[in-house]
Amino acid sequence: MRIVVLVSGTGSNLQAVIDAVASGELPNVEIAAVGADKHGTFGVQRSADAGIETFVVNFKDYDDRGEWNHALTEKCLSYEPDYVVSSGFMRIVGEEFINAFDGTYINTHPALLPSFPGAHGVRDALAYGVKVTGCTVHIADAGVDTGPILRQEAVAIDEADTEESLHERIKVVERRLLIATLADLAAKA
Ligand code: GRF
Repeated sequence: MRIVVLVSGTGSNLQAVIDAVASGELPNVEIAAVGADKHGTFGVQRSADAGIETFVVNFKDYDDRGEWNHALTEKCLSYEPDYVVSSGFMRIVGEEFINAFDGTYINTHPALLPSFPGAHGVRDALAYGVKVTGCTVHIADAGVDTGPILRQEAVAIDEADTEESLHERIKVVERRLLIATLADLAAKA
């Protein structure tokens, strides 16, 4: 099963996938490429260090979102992936991309969807005062953090939690869920 992973930041969840592939925990998964929406991400850096092909489709290089979306779609298609994984990819992709990867675009989100979608899922859960939040791995559709849920797990919020401490605990679970999801999908591929 060939995957392309999209990142915008540090890519610590991606690193867990890289490690799982390297250790043989995901024997049928190949990371065909890692892409980012901007230059200078640690996610791309660590992938290059691991010998994985990388690319950047820099959002700021395009006059409009449609052109960027088209370039990203074409670039991802060129790797002929079975799945594209958004792992901390902080851009909403458009219809062309969603249609090209219909049912095969996987997203991870640091909250229990449909609660707290959007870019600040951890902060919003804390601000609301919920006692339990978590993470979700789902097939992404045209909405913001919407689409069929594949795996989900709860994480309890401590009174002393900051956004950072809570997010770190969520990410530990998120990594495990993402790897388990990829194993499930590879078993069916
Ligand atoms: C994850 O919690 C992801 O769900 C969110 O951003 C985080 C990515 O972290 N959208 P990293 O780049 O993998 O460290």
